[in-house]
Amino acid sequence: MDISSTRQWQALESHRASVTDTHLRDLFDGDPARAADLGFSAGDLFVDLSKNLITTETLSLLTDLAREAGVPGRVQAMFAGEHINTSEDRAVLHTALRAPRTQSLTVDGQDVVGDVHAVLDRMAEFADSLRSGAWTGHTGKPITTVVNIGIGGSDLGPVMAYEALGAYLDSDIRARFVSNIDPTDIHDTLADLDPETTLFIVVSKTFTTLETLTNATEARSWLLAGLGLDESDKSAVAKHFAAVSTNGDGVSEFGIDTANMFGFWDWVGGRYSFDSAVGLSVMVAIGPDAFHDMLAGFHTIDEHFRTTEPERNVPMLMGLLNVWYNNFLGAQTHAVLPYSQYLHRFPAYLQQLTMESNGKSVQADGSPVNYQTGEIFWGEPGTNGQHAFYQLIHQGTKLIPADFIGFSEPNHEIGEMHDLFMSNYFAQTAALAFGRTREQVEAEGVPASVAVHKVMPGNHPTTSILAPKLTPSTLGQLVALYEHIVFTEGTIWGIDSFDQWGVELGKVMAKQLEPKLVTDEPSPADQDSSTDSLIARYRSQRGR
Ligand code: F6P
Repeated sequence: MDISSTRQWQALESHRASVTDTHLRDLFDGDPARAADLGFSAGDLFVDLSKNLITTETLSLLTDLAREAGVPGRVQAMFAGEHINTSEDRAVLHTALRAPRTQSLTVDGQDVVGDVHAVLDRMAEFADSLRSGAWTGHTGKPITTVVNIGIGGSDLGPVMAYEALGAYLDSDIRARFVSNIDPTDIHDTLADLDPETTLFIVVSKTFTTLETLTNATEARSWLLAGLGLDESDKSAVAKHFAAVSTNGDGVSEFGIDTANMFGFWDWVGGRYSFDSAVGLSVMVAIGPDAFHDMLAGFHTIDEHFRTTEPERNVPMLMGLLNVWYNNFLGAQTHAVLPYSQYLHRFPAYLQQLTMESNGKSVQADGSPVNYQTGEIFWGEPGTNGQHAFYQLIHQGTKLIPADFIGFSEPNHEIGEMHDLFMSNYFAQTAALAFGRTREQVEAEGVPASVAVHKVMPGNHPTTSILAPKLTPSTLGQLVALYEHIVFTEGTIWGIDSFDQWGVELGKVMAKQLEPKLVTDEPSPADQDSSTDSLIARYRSQRGR
């Protein structure tokens, strides 16, 4: 199916001018009920869509498009465990990771919810033994640092959540994260750690990822050397290494005791996985109860997404809005601006979630798409971003829809700082929407030659997401919100949001090229001329 040739798509094309010819100032002036009509709730998240370049008719046309693309049916198919990841012939069941224990779901003959809770229970036992100090390292000391070694979904989710929940770390154990194969990463992470009190959690769905296995091997050498043990003496590894993977054989081969291995399943995509055992470091840091609160938060939004009609379905509406900007108004990028320092890794996390999922140019049935797909997500926490790139959003030439994420209650109450902070959150979306006209600027006595530079055009679209407080539950709600936004977009575009074939070629080529970098022998110039000459320069600078 080519969604762009449907009647519903064409209706949106025709509708576009009625919106682009109207300023947000006029939309608000003309409709006192606009904020009320375009404010929606999902769980604890209040989502104000009123400062977007839409009318209620736009939303109605977008929900028509969603129905035409079969979004509601595909939601049910996902939750039921149908193999909607067609290129890998897999179910897509991250929603089962947060299904309550009492729910039952059997997929491909497996009791999925039972399996999930069996692993969660083992994780809780492991986390509790570390947190209580009952688990000791090789020399009998309790563990004080867990180091998560993983990359992509096996890193970005855990590190984002660990940072986000900084106010909920309630034991003596702290976590660190190593992902990059740049030796600097593991070097600096381990530099001030004590091997006697450090435990590594090696997280890799496939347990074949070069970066992760290289870092894990290095960590094992560091541990054994630090404990004064021979490389062949693996007795300490069982006390200092755990693994999270779907590949038990790979874990055993590496030398990690499978009693310390926590599994997950091929129906969990890496970028949808930190609420599985992939989040073990987070559970160790915040405790099993808080981790379960986070899962309950995810589940709240899952239920909203599964059961709410498109017209009030917040993730669906936000996904459709992204389609509106991307396909009808020509936006290329989407800013995500959390007003929470704790969420400083949230935009990076979202980049994988959104761009690895929807950066596709072929539909699930193999036919090429003839419209734009995945947006480029980027962002930084406010107010830092305000002093860096907001200038371009306010007065530049690009259309950049932006999500502002804020919390009414701070995690730390210090004088009036939070109110001051949040006044920026409210001010920015108002300034972006309504700007300042030349008349307003001149009325302040600004000379005409400068006034033109001070005019703020406004009409810049934003979505405000306001939650009561950043808690494990609201974090789960936020992440589930974006997961389902991605799902909605991918379904409209007809793509498989759950594979990631595009990252494979670079990995294969890196493996092929590495021998050329390390040899002292002349190596054939058999790549393209640019790559060959860069490698030659590199080798010469390395003295090879
Ligand atoms: O390179 C992409 C990717 O496959 C991601 O999708 C994944 O999250 C990451 O690599 C890490 O993979 P693994 O968990 O198998 O090590």
